[in-house]
Amino acid sequence: MNGIRQALRDAPDYPFVPLEAPIKLDQNESGYDFPLSLKQIALEKMLHTNWNRYPDIHANTLQQKIAARVGWVQHGVVVTPGSNVLIHALAQAAGLGQRMLSVSPAFSLYSLSGKLLGAEMLEPALNSDFSLPMDDLLATLEQYTPGVCFLAVPHAPTGAMPSLEQIETLVHRASKDWVMVLDEAYFEYSQRSHLHLLEQHPNVCILRTFSKAWGLGGVRLGYLLAQPELAVNIQKILSPFNVSSLIVAAAETALEHPNYAETRVQETILERQRVFAALQNHPTWKVYPSAANYHLIRTQDAKRAHAELLERGILVRKQDSYLGLNGCIRVSIGTPEENNAFVKAALEL
Ligand SMILES: Cc1ncc(COP(=O)(O)O)c(C=O)c1O
Repeated sequence: MNGIRQALRDAPDYPFVPLEAPIKLDQNESGYDFPLSLKQIALEKMLHTNWNRYPDIHANTLQQKIAARVGWVQHGVVVTPGSNVLIHALAQAAGLGQRMLSVSPAFSLYSLSGKLLGAEMLEPALNSDFSLPMDDLLATLEQYTPGVCFLAVPHAPTGAMPSLEQIETLVHRASKDWVMVLDEAYFEYSQRSHLHLLEQHPNVCILRTFSKAWGLGGVRLGYLLAQPELAVNIQKILSPFNVSSLIVAAAETALEHPNYAETRVQETILERQRVFAALQNHPTWKVYPSAANYHLIRTQDAKRAHAELLERGILVRKQDSYLGLNGCIRVSIGTPEENNAFVKAALEL
């Protein structure tokens, strides 16, 4: 096994245990499948695609449609099968032999991709109210270079929303030797984007995904937005033809019919408020405010809460192994029926 680098052998697996349950609230997915009528349109597009031919080298038409939707230049869009791929690519681009900065806890893939590369890891702890440790982050950004900094906005897994001023301060103060990644996987639910920061900052990029608000987690599509010079360099790391024509057909169909996603986002935001309010009546659980499509909840015992919910047919995610999250579970906002079942079960525990 000596051909495999030690850093890779030492790295943990992605922390996920697949379990089945009638009500699945463990992966921050959309509770709704892609609409049947749109699946039919996507299948029709697939029928008219030549499957023997490679797709566009960089999913060019999809790039163009995404650029038009978000209001950014086409050459500043990089498309991949899931934004996870971009996290690894950014870690390779700027973390390899350099350093990776995030906070602890954070979306686990940031530190995993850094560990795979043997990057120096800098992970200051979040404050106890889950706000960003601004002094530590600023000191690190000023003291060490170069490297890559990952921040999920809204934060994962807490759902907390850093203020715009905090994000702007970090971006303005970071030297150009840091690649600053703002992971907007859940931005539709927070209704705040940071696109305006890309104009002035050639070292900043935004990650987004079709896995959440667009209800296409199973299709696998994510994208990066940055100034073209950064985008071109990230593109070099990716395999050519990395987005299949079948993914492109599904994603283009979604982009041509965005209303379904917009309506669901509005509904999810209302459901988030409803679940949050209902859980205030729980005698022992504490639910944290969230700007995303999930809640972090502190229970007395995460393993017990997880098991007791599972007995009632509801699958949630334990988060208690993260720094400062003892007792915590994370629960996606599902359909109103799923949320009712969850709230009812929770109030029985
Ligand atoms: C913060 C964050 N970023 C990125 C992703 C990955 O999304 P994708 O499905 O596009 O790979 C997730 C998935 O849960 C996430 O929570």
